[in-house]
Amino acid sequence: MAAEYFSDLNYSLGNEDTKMEVDILLKLKPSRILTIAGCGSRALPLLACKPEKLICIDVAKPQLLITELRYAALKEFNYQDFMTFWGFAPYDKTDFCDRRKDLFTRLDLQDETKEYFAAYFAKVGWKTLLYEGKWEKIFSVMSKVVRLVLGKAADESLRFDKLDQQIHYYNNKFPKAKWKLILFLLGNKSVFNALLYKGDFIKKNVPETHFEYYQEAYQRLFTEGLVNKSFFMHLCFQGKIANENGNTIEADEENFNSCKEALAAGSEVKIWEKDLVSASTELAGEELDYASLSDVPSYFSGELEKNFMQKLLPAMKSGGVVVLRNYLREPEVDTSGYEEITPRFSDEIRNERVQMYKVRIFQKN
Ligand SMILES: C[S@@+](CC[C@H](N)C(=O)[O-])C[C@H]1O[C@@H](n2cnc3c(N)ncnc32)[C@H](O)[C@@H]1O
Repeated sequence: MAAEYFSDLNYSLGNEDTKMEVDILLKLKPSRILTIAGCGSRALPLLACKPEKLICIDVAKPQLLITELRYAALKEFNYQDFMTFWGFAPYDKTDFCDRRKDLFTRLDLQDETKEYFAAYFAKVGWKTLLYEGKWEKIFSVMSKVVRLVLGKAADESLRFDKLDQQIHYYNNKFPKAKWKLILFLLGNKSVFNALLYKGDFIKKNVPETHFEYYQEAYQRLFTEGLVNKSFFMHLCFQGKIANENGNTIEADEENFNSCKEALAAGSEVKIWEKDLVSASTELAGEELDYASLSDVPSYFSGELEKNFMQKLLPAMKSGGVVVLRNYLREPEVDTSGYEEITPRFSDEIRNERVQMYKVRIFQKN
């Protein structure tokens, strides 16, 4: 990907439903985890399985800084202060800016991280950082288009707490023609390239067109789970998490407490500026028993795409699990030495509330 793509804060809330991986980890109970950091929200909730070590890597400095900020907040704050600091519902209603400023002064951060976020918060008037990433800002703009075109259906879609009623609404009342128009206009490579990826958006190899891919994903979001429980659908229809139903796993009190317990029990967190392949090579012999690669391999091509699983193999313990979230591109990768175990986690995958990724799970022989 282009250097330009990595120079700003690209993600601040995150665009994955990390609950899926937390649920997988609570079954697997791994001890040594390698994970792509993203903005930290896809990495730190994994502590809930109380691993010995969580290694968070990323190539983008701002993503590592915000991961460190999340880690410091998790260590320092109680649940209410954590929710207030990040501005998750219901702590998004009143003006918590002064309180957020006070909380920030309590955090134990490296100088660079402290300076970066002191300046960032000052720029945004100590409002929440949750929607400051470029990706989140794009969805905020897109949601305005969605609301304009869909009208009251944008709010209606988020009001169901029974799946059969939601499906009935989707099949009979939801304005599907308008929705298709939105997907056709916004869900394509040119838009994402222009807005975020600077020409480096994924080179799709799945057979579906972009339009079909997104249409099928949204169809699943409407028919296989509650729209209201999907932070991603809140972003699509409201531009932000509109209420507590849409909060992500890091804002879940049980997950928060489990992660705090893990830290108190000695779980080690390493935040490391590394690309996936260099990290894999340097971690040879590390006996990792879980690797969470996000959709990073979908951006690979050529030799890198073919061999990243082989590069990772010496770092993995026998029986160790690798989770890929393929997005528009299924990597053409050599998986020898691994067995695919995706069907073992079909419930977790079906319950995932973003549905844009084709999750594939492998286990080292
Ligand atoms: C592809 S993005 C998607 C964002 C992510 N889904 C989230 O919710 O935060 C995942 C992260 O991978 C990082 N990344 C991209 N290529 C990488 C590589 N080769 N090695 C390590 N990290 C990489 C990006 O900087 C970004 O923070």
